Amino acid sequence: MRNGKFSLQKYNTFGIDACADTFFSYNNIDDLILFLQNDFDKEKPFFILGGGSNVLFTSDYQGTIIHPETKGITITQEDDNDVFVAVAAGEIWDDFVQWAVDNNLHGVENLSYIPGCIGASPVQNIGAYGSEAKDAIHEVHCISIADQTRKIFSKEDCKFGYRDSIFKHECANKYIVETVVFKLQKNAPFNLSYGSLNTLLDEKTATLQTVRNTIIQIRKEKLPDPKEIGSAGSFFKNPIIPENQANTLRNKFPKIVTYPAPNGNIKVAAGWLIDSLGLKGFCMGGAKVHEKQALVLTNAGNATGNDVVALSHHIQDKVKETYGIQIEPEVIFL
Ligand code: EPU
Repeated sequence: MRNGKFSLQKYNTFGIDACADTFFSYNNIDDLILFLQNDFDKEKPFFILGGGSNVLFTSDYQGTIIHPETKGITITQEDDNDVFVAVAAGEIWDDFVQWAVDNNLHGVENLSYIPGCIGASPVQNIGAYGSEAKDAIHEVHCISIADQTRKIFSKEDCKFGYRDSIFKHECANKYIVETVVFKLQKNAPFNLSYGSLNTLLDEKTATLQTVRNTIIQIRKEKLPDPKEIGSAGSFFKNPIIPENQANTLRNKFPKIVTYPAPNGNIKVAAGWLIDSLGLKGFCMGGAKVHEKQALVLTNAGNATGNDVVALSHHIQDKVKETYGIQIEPEVIFL
């Protein structure tokens, strides 16, 4: 455990230089349990920080940062086609995807190259290229912060939605993910329905590794490499609006990009909305709208959290003014 100003710059992909009052990292669960029992200050705010790829520190964090570094990928059960794999919360998400591909297991290949760690995958229900983590998650094993007991959440218990789960609502700040159990398949059809995937790949000749390579290539073309440019991936969620509102917008803006969403609603590509306003490359302080993907805000050089907040408010206002849609951040502000 580290007390006193602990720099979080290396622990958030935006690279914001904020400090935490207390920082606790652990590589085995017994250490976490001992910490929660003996040293954890329940009166202060706390945050469980995984890969730091979906957070924005707007100032120093006056509380405790809990950072899992537990490792382990273990097959727990298998039958003719399904393989159950328990993965520790501190594993890097993309290392697990590579492991699945190396072991010829289907289910997470479309989620290649997403930054972050395993523990965040159910909280956020990470998604890309027509897949979501929920499609492969079987159970989520957690530790209760209040009494350190273990609780298993079935997939249904998790109440997954678009970038959403029970861990952002009723169970927020109540549990720490210990292990995620995935159900992968030895054989399964590829999901090449999204965007350019089916023009780049042929269902008949595709392999897990070629699907993974193609997705990595698409992501590298559009999204900044966190090792080079700080960002948190998509900054905003794609808004979901009623069909009548979408129809009005389609009449007025025929090029608007939309997708069907659950319950007859329509999902709008926020990247298109922002791009259409000519905001690619637009800067405020050190914060910038990414040139290749308008949904992504980057740290173009010594951005403070407040630069990013100011830029995000500017974008929200412009989108609201033109399209009447309130876009909401996907990134968590701390
Ligand atoms: N578009 C533009 N201009 C832009 C950006 C996008 O016109 O600057 C258009 C694209 O041409 C496309 C549509 O908007 O027609 C959607 O763009 P894209 O396919 O790049 O995906 P997205 O909706 O912007 C979502 C996820 C990404 C995920 C991709 C691919 C959210 C918030 N974001 O982005 O996830 O990788 O789909 O599936 O749902 C992340 O969450 O951090 C993330 C990167």
